[in-house]
Amino acid sequence: MGNQVLVTDELHDYMVGHGMPLDEIAAELVAETRQLGDISRMLTTADQAALLTTLTRLISARRAVEIGTFTGFSALAIARGLPDDGQLICLDASQEWTSIGQRYWERAGVSSKIELRIGDGHELAAALDGSFDLAFVDADKPGYIDYFERLVQVIRPNGLMLFDNTLAGGRVVGEHSDDPVDRKEFNAHIAKDDRVDVVILGIGDGLTLVRRK
Ligand SMILES: C[S@@+](CC[C@H](N)C(=O)[O-])C[C@H]1O[C@@H](n2cnc3c(N)ncnc32)[C@H](O)[C@@H]1O
Repeated sequence: MGNQVLVTDELHDYMVGHGMPLDEIAAELVAETRQLGDISRMLTTADQAALLTTLTRLISARRAVEIGTFTGFSALAIARGLPDDGQLICLDASQEWTSIGQRYWERAGVSSKIELRIGDGHELAAALDGSFDLAFVDADKPGYIDYFERLVQVIRPNGLMLFDNTLAGGRVVGEHSDDPVDRKEFNAHIAKDDRVDVVILGIGDGLTLVRRK
């Protein structure tokens, strides 16, 4: 064991409480999503949302793509980091869930920056054109290698790709009956790819930052 801090629930609350706070609109979006029940576990965490906004601003992203939008929480965070004339293309299979997000994007004044495309993420990703500064992937986990191979072609040099849930609750190490083979294969796949630099952050369920060289 190195110098890692064990992030307990209490410490996590402290970290969120001392970082960029959720405003009323984002908090209401999270609250409405929680009313959906168990499925709301798919929500991006508040500290990840703050990181998404910060990274979007840090790299001065103007054009971004998100694969896996759900009720629009992470999209709201990315869109807020974009300039007024920036663009975020959101890809998701669900009209029902994303329509919740659309109401909050409208209220937050970011809907003009967001283009929602409904359908299969792989087909929609294959059809992306132009170049992107930032990509956030939070959809079907067995599809991560395919998404990476597509995005690496359209991300500009020094652009950033982010992949969520890459530590699979910590199950990427040790023996488990529900072994996250997809995440292990994905993590190994990008670790040996010399087109990119890779850093895995222990935030949320594991967030991998991938810089295109
Ligand atoms: C974990 S949720 C995304 C959470 C979201 N990033 C947030 O901020 O709360 C995963 C989303 O991916 C979408 N999804 C899963 N597989 C997909 C696929 N093959 N094509 C398109 N969307 C997909 C689901 O509809 C769901 O909305």
